[in-house]
Amino acid sequence: MTFTLRIWRLKNASAPGRFETYPAKDVIPDMSFLEMLDVVNEDLIARGEEPIAFDSDCREGICGMCSLVINGVAHGGHRGTAACQLHMRHFRDGSTITIEPWRARAFPVVKDLVTNRSAFDRIIQAGGFISANTGGAPDGNALPVPKDAAEASMDAAACIGCGACVAVCKNASAMLFVAAKVSHLNLLPQGKAEKERRVLNMVRQMDAEGFGNCTVTGSCEAVCPKEISLSFIARMNRDYGLAMLKGG
Ligand code: SF4
Ligand code: FES
Repeated sequence: MTFTLRIWRLKNASAPGRFETYPAKDVIPDMSFLEMLDVVNEDLIARGEEPIAFDSDCREGICGMCSLVINGVAHGGHRGTAACQLHMRHFRDGSTITIEPWRARAFPVVKDLVTNRSAFDRIIQAGGFISANTGGAPDGNALPVPKDAAEASMDAAACIGCGACVAVCKNASAMLFVAAKVSHLNLLPQGKAEKERRVLNMVRQMDAEGFGNCTVTGSCEAVCPKEISLSFIARMNRDYGLAMLKGG
């Protein structure tokens, strides 16, 4: 397969960016999107040119590093799939593919396709801790967890913090991410002691970082590689409202 790539190039955060065009030749259909970029970079390096900077770590849909907007859609628009797990066979041979970084005020572009997503780390930090008694490990059945709460918590915990929900949202809202992180602890008995403080602090930090508000367009859920449900946003709003009523 061969492709024409239009890639956003940015030398550093203060330089003006521009699209550059590169050929991608001899692409094997079963290559992942990142492997295809690796081949393009090997070619650039062999020619003495600057390789394209992009983030990746696990390449297994776990770490949330592969932040690429492909043909205008975060992670390329293949349902439940991070860019690192997107295969080239899903693209039409000979087509042009446009690749950009996440674009949101709270995610400044550092270089080419690399963005700084430390705003998410600060939101997690604002969430604080859970209380755990010291001493020996408790018996596994000492603290019963209802099955539906355990399953909902696990669904929320699947969030990999990639930021696609922000990148695709017209408001650059981080509500889906924050709702997932709030919910996976608030749903469990172990997370209940700090429940109110957690949701208030995480929402306040989200606002302080400059993310926009949610207007429930649902684009976040559509591109989320872990298919986190919009219903977690409703759950977080309930938790937030109750915390405010309790004097938050
Ligand atoms: S909610 Fe989904 S899109 Fe948003 S950060 Fe988590 S995994 Fe990524
Ligand atoms: S590189 Fe880890 S999720 Fe894509």
